[in-house]
Amino acid sequence: MNVLILNGSPRRNGIVGSLLKEAEQSACGHVVERIDLYDCQIVSCSGCMACRTSGRCSLPEDDGHRLAERIATADLLVIGTPTYWGNMSAKLKCLFDRTVPVFMGENRMGIPQPRRKGCRAIVVTTCTTPWPFNILFRQSSGAAKRVKEVLRTAGYRMRSLQVGGTKPMHGQAPEQAIRKMRRLVKKSLKKETNNG
Ligand SMILES: Cc1cc2nc3c(=O)[nH]c(=O)nc-3n(C[C@H](O)[C@H](O)[C@H](O)COP(=O)(O)O)c2cc1C
Repeated sequence: MNVLILNGSPRRNGIVGSLLKEAEQSACGHVVERIDLYDCQIVSCSGCMACRTSGRCSLPEDDGHRLAERIATADLLVIGTPTYWGNMSAKLKCLFDRTVPVFMGENRMGIPQPRRKGCRAIVVTTCTTPWPFNILFRQSSGAAKRVKEVLRTAGYRMRSLQVGGTKPMHGQAPEQAIRKMRRLVKKSLKKETNNG
């Protein structure tokens, strides 16, 4: 299986980063690639809509194009983002804006048509707001919802992991979250292998 891990946090070794490292290790034996989005050059979408007909972004070549190709060939996507203002990080949103045709087409009425049906995804979100307020006040759950909206439109089947109360953690994800991450990766890869 091709596993693509996308880190939407600028902190490579933060909570998101450490959980993604765990995902990487749990997927050992598969083809795994991790990309830290904040190391990538991704120019903002210009809104030209040309990709809706051509299937490719018309902006000058940058990492947005390279990432689109990687996403298109991944069987399992593991996407992590910190919660920024109740949403995903700007860099992850920028990537999603630049890769629309990988995720969806449109019919004549402009209704989205999923392009990644059968693929799987794990969504990881973190925030400083502690449990249960991270859920009740749509903090980590708000960020997860926004990421899932993109992936649901694309047809992915998803699992998610949310970690609230990260302020006292100093970059070290709690053991419980690490164990859950391992379980999610194993489960997602097992299904893929069974279906394949
Ligand atoms: C610009 C910015 C906005 C943030 N917005 C929120 C927020 O809306 N809610 C929240 O609970 N935490 C917020 N945080 C805190 C981060 O979500 C939190 O520190 C997260 O655990 C960082 O993950 P990382 O260690 O993987 O980078 C914000 C942090 C930054 C830098």
